[in-house]
Amino acid sequence: MIYEPAEDSYLLEEQVRKYVKKGMKVLDVGTGSGIQAEAAKEAKILALDINQECVDFVRKKGINCVKSDLFEKINEKFDLIIFNPPYLPEDEEEPEDSKLLTTGGKKGNEILIRFFSQVKKYLNKDGKILIVFSSLTPDVDKIIRKYGFKYKKLSEQKIPFETLYVYLVEQ
Ligand SMILES: C[S@@+](CC[C@H](N)C(=O)[O-])C[C@H]1O[C@@H](n2cnc3c(N)ncnc32)[C@H](O)[C@@H]1O
Repeated sequence: MIYEPAEDSYLLEEQVRKYVKKGMKVLDVGTGSGIQAEAAKEAKILALDINQECVDFVRKKGINCVKSDLFEKINEKFDLIIFNPPYLPEDEEEPEDSKLLTTGGKKGNEILIRFFSQVKKYLNKDGKILIVFSSLTPDVDKIIRKYGFKYKKLSEQKIPFETLYVYLVEQ
């Protein structure tokens, strides 16, 4: 199952287009349909996803893509790391395959905790991160600060039952 680009994807994509410059090294984590990787095409882009179906789909678009659980298979550093994570709290009614796309763990922030605990190692000296998440994802600001990063809100969008935020995260 491949995540159909939705409001979160488009809100993040808008900022990816602004931030990506020719010559940058960019990593798209949880690439899904490859929407962010395509927006970053003028950079040197590597995409990854835990789901082989996404990897095959994105490779067919001519984008370099690896199957990896977060940074498991990554051995380089990047100028920009993009992540539209699964960020919603667990809903027991939701089928397992779509959970992988939307559910960030029991509370919804567990995958972001894993991401921020590892990401520093994969960033160049002035490397930055672009993320999108929801008002339903708890403690994102605290998590970012806990791992030694600063953040700036770049955009937000109200949708039914939640607000989406795009942050630029810096070291
Ligand atoms: C919300 S979708 C975002 C897809 C796309 N980047 C976008 O903006 O539309 C989250 C993606 O993260 C992937 N994913 C979930 N857990 C992952 C993990 N541990 N490591 C890598 N990718 C993961 C899912 O397979 C899914 O493609």
